[in-house]
Amino acid sequence: MNWLNDNVNVLALLGAAAILILSVGVSLKYINQMKTDKSSGELANDNWDGIGEYKNPLPIGWALSFLGTIIWGLWYFLVGYPLNSYSQIGEYNEEVNSYNTRFESKFSNPDNATLMGMGEGVFLVQCAPCHGVTGDGMNGKAANLSKWGNEDAAVATILKGAKGSGYPLIEMPAGLLDANGAKAVVAYMFKEVSGVKNTKHPELVEAGRELWATCASCHGEDGKGMGGSAPDLSAYGTAKFVVNVLGTGKKGFIGNMPQFNDGRLTNVQKLAVGTYVNSLAK
Ligand code: HEC
Ligand code: HEC
Repeated sequence: MNWLNDNVNVLALLGAAAILILSVGVSLKYINQMKTDKSSGELANDNWDGIGEYKNPLPIGWALSFLGTIIWGLWYFLVGYPLNSYSQIGEYNEEVNSYNTRFESKFSNPDNATLMGMGEGVFLVQCAPCHGVTGDGMNGKAANLSKWGNEDAAVATILKGAKGSGYPLIEMPAGLLDANGAKAVVAYMFKEVSGVKNTKHPELVEAGRELWATCASCHGEDGKGMGGSAPDLSAYGTAKFVVNVLGTGKKGFIGNMPQFNDGRLTNVQKLAVGTYVNSLAK
């Protein structure tokens, strides 16, 4: 375990450093004071080469807490937290990890019904606050997912352009093709490039093939996005495209969609919510 990942641990070590610095400072102050201070009070009889001692008993509480601090400090450092890396947060994280591993192995081969059920659950918790319970985007607050990821949506994207997901090619300009051209190239894309392998307009596929060069300059001849420079269109219309959106997030016109790759969702949960979202527009 990397102790720098654990905020409590870092805090404890910073605290220890602060106490150390404080102690050195205070000691130096008193050492300097001892050089100049004139003192008074009843002296003990003992005298070592002119150095006397006052008759002040050591305060018992002070002595006990001093001893206690040393013992506790040694215990804490050696058996307890810093060297052993034990913390409740660490224990919690380990528990979550082990549950996630069990979760992933339990659902390592989910069927479609399982994915849809799990996907709806994830959607209602993680996505509905912005996209709405039905995925309609709540009057434009976020993308309307009931009209997203199908052929009409891809045509609209070509006419409108797209940006905000942070791809190296940054932006797809609006109006690369007119409405008819866009419809044809999307028919080709759905039939030949994307995993959907089917189109509502099979008669347009050949015309679309002619126009594909317009898209290939950014998305690649095979549509796979040229190693991450632009979205992978071979995934368009499938759950995987949604999973990819979860990896990039998206700056929208009225707000931002966060990335979901901080461990909030396991891989199978991402696939599930992708499957569910993908079903909304069908
Ligand atoms: C100048 C480069 C460029 C060209 C040319 C281009 N695209 Fe794109 N395309 C992009 C980028 C960049 C994105 C990602 C936009 C974003 O940040 O969400 C994108 C996104 C998309 C998306 C996904 C939209 C979404 O909802 O997330 C589709 C579908 C798409 N392009 C299809 C096409 C088709 C079809 C063509 C050919 C007519 C084409 N693109 C031409 C760069 C390009
Ligand atoms: C904080 C609000 C917020 C949350 C939470 C959120 N989204 Fe989004 N989402 C947005 C916004 C904003 C956009 C971009 C809309 C636009 O293009 O203007 C968007 C866009 C999308 C798109 C379309 C991306 C594209 O390239 O066009 C998909 C798919 C999507 N979200 C899926 C999800 C899923 C699945 C979840 C839950 C795991 C989710 N979103 C959670 C705000 C959110």
